[in-house]
Amino acid sequence: MVKQSALLRSESSSLLLEVIDGALVIAHWGALLVGDLADVATASQVSIANSSWDHVQNPGIMRESSRGFLGRPTLSGHRSGRAWSTKFEVTKFYHVDNECSITFHDAFAELEILINFDMDTFGVITQSATVSNRGDSDYTLDEYIHWLPLPQEATQSLDFIGRWSNERQPQRRDIGVGSWARESREGRSGHNFSIADIALTAQTSFQSGAAWATSIAWSGNSIYLIERGFDGGQSMGAGELLLPGEVILAAGASYSAPAMVSVYSQQGLDGLSAAFHSHIRARSMHPQRPRPLTLNMWEALYFNHDEAAIRELVDVAAEIGIERVVLDDGWFHSRRNDRAGLGDWVIDSSVWPDGLKPIIKYINSKGIEFGLWFEGEMVNPDSDLYRAHPEWILHEGDRTPPLWRHQLVLDIAHEGAYNHVLEQTSAILEAHDIAYIKWDHNRVLVDAGHLGRPGVRSQTQAIYRLFAELKQRHPHLEIESCASGGARIDLGVIDYVDRFWTSDNNDALERQSIQRWSAQVIPPEMLGTHIGPTHGHQTGRTLELSMRATTALFGHAGIEWNITEATEQERAYLKSWATYYKSNRALLHGGTMIRVDYPDTHGYLHGVSAHDKSRAIFAYVQLRPTSVIHPAPLKFPGLDAKATYSVNAVYPAGKPRFMLVTPPQWMEGIKLSGSALANSGVAAPILAPANAFIIEITKI
Ligand code: DGJ
Repeated sequence: MVKQSALLRSESSSLLLEVIDGALVIAHWGALLVGDLADVATASQVSIANSSWDHVQNPGIMRESSRGFLGRPTLSGHRSGRAWSTKFEVTKFYHVDNECSITFHDAFAELEILINFDMDTFGVITQSATVSNRGDSDYTLDEYIHWLPLPQEATQSLDFIGRWSNERQPQRRDIGVGSWARESREGRSGHNFSIADIALTAQTSFQSGAAWATSIAWSGNSIYLIERGFDGGQSMGAGELLLPGEVILAAGASYSAPAMVSVYSQQGLDGLSAAFHSHIRARSMHPQRPRPLTLNMWEALYFNHDEAAIRELVDVAAEIGIERVVLDDGWFHSRRNDRAGLGDWVIDSSVWPDGLKPIIKYINSKGIEFGLWFEGEMVNPDSDLYRAHPEWILHEGDRTPPLWRHQLVLDIAHEGAYNHVLEQTSAILEAHDIAYIKWDHNRVLVDAGHLGRPGVRSQTQAIYRLFAELKQRHPHLEIESCASGGARIDLGVIDYVDRFWTSDNNDALERQSIQRWSAQVIPPEMLGTHIGPTHGHQTGRTLELSMRATTALFGHAGIEWNITEATEQERAYLKSWATYYKSNRALLHGGTMIRVDYPDTHGYLHGVSAHDKSRAIFAYVQLRPTSVIHPAPLKFPGLDAKATYSVNAVYPAGKPRFMLVTPPQWMEGIKLSGSALANSGVAAPILAPANAFIIEITKI
């Protein structure tokens, strides 16, 4: 019989698939394989151990107990207790270039599965699957997990935890025998959602070492798994976390699992990021326009909407060079605080007696775009909508879920609720010149029933549909995904939105690590990064403007601060920082992100270099006091070793606070080769804690 196998490959990685005994075996995922590969799968066939199977078992990608697999299966489900165990056979194998589709069939369970692997030129694999019920009774699908094998040198894992105002903090651990599961049950991807699950060697750092990453393209409940069996095999997987009975496939019906997006890197964590960023940037819907410098008025106004005060803010914004002004929560019916109004998306005439048109006209007259806040999936019990349709909330039986921020979740999979939100939002967009909406989601989904059945999946599909429909009706509309800060940042919603609100924490010191790790997967141009007030509203911390501005530069930049209170000097700095952002955003938003493996734990050195290595912009951030007098030198990878560069410290928003008599000499400007910059570097100045500055490196 002709061997069925497929080798998908990029410049630096390979995925080798082969059909063995009717099962699909992934014989390799990792470094690039070249040469004669005909017997790779055969070479990996294991011995017959004592107290074991009489013949080598190849459970393959479906991981079935019928094929001797003792770990967590790919598919779990049943037909009222029957068809609980499957034995799928590959019935079709289609391979062209870097794409492979495999059809599996189980005649007894009467199920068909289509799995697709697609590797792009950056080595990013998109793995999708559709399960179809070919029988004539209902099939209850409990779980479908995508899996990829991990080699034994992947001895550690890295994933991300978080809470409000402290999203995406890394946790690294050793992989042991057993399963490590990261579940998200918030009904949105969540503050505690792991944007990726990463396996790596003990030595892997930002710049070097092997790493394998997966990210689930889904904004509802999800699960990541790393499993090491007592047979020594290990793998990583991800899928949608289904609630009991959430998916029951009627005869002929199908379930499409959210895709798993995976990549292997030999260049450490930055290698993974480079591939994820390139993959995301290559999508047709990736924002192409230069990312407008934004003023979000939330922390300047909160619910105190006052047209005169807003005009004053806009005047200062125009002077600074702001390109988009956003009116946040509080503009709609009876929304004078967070206890009422969600669900009634009509302008509140008590604060906006002439509507929003005059203020939008004023903003536009300054050459600035206007953006507006919505939270369409939510409803306050104190709203006209809830009074008219209390049945339109996600709920189970006659229970009302516990309130969170005084609000409930609207069941937008319910046609009436969906149309209400779509039409009211659309009417506002139709009647006004609105470039962008910030779409918030400020609570978790619990007890989230839709017409008596679990409703998280249908809710997630409905919000994707709603975003798509809004964009179709309003072709130039941009959407920001916000959820109490960064609780809906994932590779599912990314195809419908243009920006993520990274975190409600605008304290630049805290933002350093939040942004550092959010950018592990999401490219910086999609991450909202704002200069917060002098005294941070979340932490109460006072930070230099130079620190706040340096931090906000490395993303889709903006300001969230009552800038009418800024001093003349601060406004001048904001203006020069705005000019700097605009003249460098092509590099900041299109280059390669670099997180240097800086040896001292008090500081970060990170930046972006141009693909042709002609320029780079770095930031040196001293988070804490140094433990020794002179911190480790600053070394800059990612440049052309033989080229000569001019190196300059620049201060578009003012100098940092130094703790020294005279800064290192190079800070007046110096010329060095790329090789010297990477290997011997420049002396780090001694800064006060929580200070930062920018270093520009330009090829001569
Ligand atoms: C939470 C968001 O993250 C904030 O930026 C702001 O929009 C508030 N909600 C408004 O209620």
